[in-house]
Amino acid sequence: MYSPLNLSSPVLELARYPLDKRETLLPFDAADELIMDWWLNNPESAQQLCFINDGFGALSCFFAQQSEAQLVHISDSFLAQQAAMNNMSHNQLDEQRISYKDCSDEWPEAPNRIIIKVPKSLALFEYQLARISELPEGTPVLIASRLKDLPAKAVKLLKDAFGNVVPELARRKSRIMHAQVSGDIQPRPEPTRWDLPAFELTLENQANVFSRKSLDIGTRFLLQHLPKTYKPKKVIDLGCGNGILALAMARRYPDNKYVLVDESHMAIESARQNQQSNLPELSDKFTFLCQHGLVGFWSESADLVLCNPPFHQQQAVTDEIAWQMFNQAKNALRTGGKLRVVANRHLGYHVKMKRIFGDVEILASNSKFVILESRKADKSKHVVEEDTGSEHESE
Ligand SMILES: C[S@@+](CC[C@H](N)C(=O)[O-])C[C@H]1O[C@@H](n2cnc3c(N)ncnc32)[C@H](O)[C@@H]1O
Repeated sequence: MYSPLNLSSPVLELARYPLDKRETLLPFDAADELIMDWWLNNPESAQQLCFINDGFGALSCFFAQQSEAQLVHISDSFLAQQAAMNNMSHNQLDEQRISYKDCSDEWPEAPNRIIIKVPKSLALFEYQLARISELPEGTPVLIASRLKDLPAKAVKLLKDAFGNVVPELARRKSRIMHAQVSGDIQPRPEPTRWDLPAFELTLENQANVFSRKSLDIGTRFLLQHLPKTYKPKKVIDLGCGNGILALAMARRYPDNKYVLVDESHMAIESARQNQQSNLPELSDKFTFLCQHGLVGFWSESADLVLCNPPFHQQQAVTDEIAWQMFNQAKNALRTGGKLRVVANRHLGYHVKMKRIFGDVEILASNSKFVILESRKADKSKHVVEEDTGSEHESE
């Protein structure tokens, strides 16, 4: 589960979060290693270094080991924060040296250097570059990316933000670039807004929110197949994004209780904002949690879980999170409770749900998507993992 990072001394052992049980994905990439290599050749004495989008804490751990600076980890992702915390602790690094901020927090006013990895979402990148442009003129910025994660639009955003961007030669299909805060403050992009007339909702989306410009077609299909609830129930919107599924349900069934969960701080902020602006009278019916799925959630406590599962984590395509979400949903549901999912047909999620729940029903399908539902038949808590087909008791 832990992979050695050989550039560091002593060698760091790093893991993704959640752990990738199939061990196919590393917790760092070549762009991280270029940053580390550059620092080993150009060490600076710094009081405070800021890392933006440090995926699994590789940079945080490396710099905790190689510099005396206070470290600030800035990310929109709860999973990224958790990974950094776990890796700092696993490597017995001083956890007091690092603080964690998300995009809505105040950022440090005058760090000695910003180190930023280009994120998957260019809207998030634009937002982060605008925040960086507010720092003191001349603050050095080190930008890193794998070439395949650096589209021409990202390069344009960099030029717009800094004017002069000096690239180093690409190595190992990755590149680092140098820039300085120019003093020309860029406006922070406004959240996007779009309407969902069928449910009388207007949805506001911060930069890193899924489907921020318009309704996702998978979500649209699930909205056409929302369950009917005749008695007040506890409904979980798992991976809620802007909260659209729970809010649409609440428009029709205001007596239910709704729990909205996402690992993106911006998603949870947007969902909370959307509940307040669309259904302010239901505030006591809504709970918002920024965390990894339903970890730590009361078992046997929910009646319905709605989910449009993620199929990537940061830049990597993976179904690991979906597996974990389905297992977590089974644990959180009461006997008789149901998990309803929308998924691309080709992902084969019906096989996963059948393995976990023992049964699955295809409620609807079109050329691209299926709506799947599994019912929790009993209280057994076996967890099913994909690769080995192994099943074990979770408690
Ligand atoms: C496909 S989007 C669906 C968003 C929304 N439900 C919709 O239909 O528009 C999946 C969501 O899952 C969230 N997500 C990804 N990994 C997660 C995790 N480990 N725990 C909670 N949410 C997660 C993503 O941030 C994203 O908002």
